[in-house]
Amino acid sequence: MQKKIIELLTKTDGYVSGSEISEQLGVSRQAVWKAINNLKEQGYKFDSVTNRGYRLVAYPPHLNEPAIEKYLKTSVIGKNLIVLDEVGSTNDYLKKLGADGCENGTVAVAREQTQGKGRLGRVWKAKKDDSITFSFLLRPKIAPSEVSSITPLAGLAVCKAIREFTGLDCRIKWPNDIIIGKKKLVGILTEMSAEFDAVEYVITGIGINADTQDFPDDIKEKATSIYLATGGHFDKNKFFACVLNHIEEEFIKNDLKLSPVALKEYTSLCATVGRDITFTKNGKSVTAKAVGVNPDGELIAELPDKTTKLINSGEVTV
Ligand code: BTN
Repeated sequence: MQKKIIELLTKTDGYVSGSEISEQLGVSRQAVWKAINNLKEQGYKFDSVTNRGYRLVAYPPHLNEPAIEKYLKTSVIGKNLIVLDEVGSTNDYLKKLGADGCENGTVAVAREQTQGKGRLGRVWKAKKDDSITFSFLLRPKIAPSEVSSITPLAGLAVCKAIREFTGLDCRIKWPNDIIIGKKKLVGILTEMSAEFDAVEYVITGIGINADTQDFPDDIKEKATSIYLATGGHFDKNKFFACVLNHIEEEFIKNDLKLSPVALKEYTSLCATVGRDITFTKNGKSVTAKAVGVNPDGELIAELPDKTTKLINSGEVTV
């Protein structure tokens, strides 16, 4: 009922009386009053005038569906949008929905993750409302081998959204971190369910350090947030809608591939290309120069003997 009251007040410019709300929703005036009080406790702000009713003045600052939907321009990504107060991992949550047949483009975003997963078995930790942790599910008609372009395309979209929304000079650290200077701002983890040569669904999970004001000692030197980099709070709902708008735009424009245009943009925003890198080969540390990224999202490394090697996963140090 609370969601319906917000929807009703969002689409109405002026005031809506308590009796109109109770009539439209088929509930008692008392129930409407209780729901409004509950919404106030969650951070919604109403102007209430005797004999006129209620007017919605502000959404809460934390992630919430109506405030995100207000700015969402997509036709697929986030059409089915789920905002969770708390979840183990948004990737795992969507895996269950994916197996139950949820629609292409479903997005789950959590105010708090208790078991956030990172790449290479790491964890993604964040305090409630500090980071924007979300996953989206796609059902692309592609072979499992073609899934490799999804993460770089998502990285490109998020990097462009952050640059547009905040003006920050963030860059992509191959394969899928977004950094400012040397500090990590965003991490991406893509997982898929596939049978034989067909993909059933792909889940891309993204964690953006948004409002974090201080990081635990062990990652203080390695991580930053939009708050720390810009020096202030920002409208998280508007920003998140901007991120989803960019993801859809990038995916549609490039037909889910690292097209020549996408690859050019990715490369120009990639902090790794053009730098000396170190990676592990057969248990040994190798130093090379990153000279580009190919359409499969692999990093092209030039070894000291001028031969090239393609790196497709693992840890690369710049
Ligand atoms: C990494 O940098 O190692 C990847 C981090 C990915 C974290 C995100 S947060 C939302 C989604 N749900 C998860 O459990 N992990 C991803």
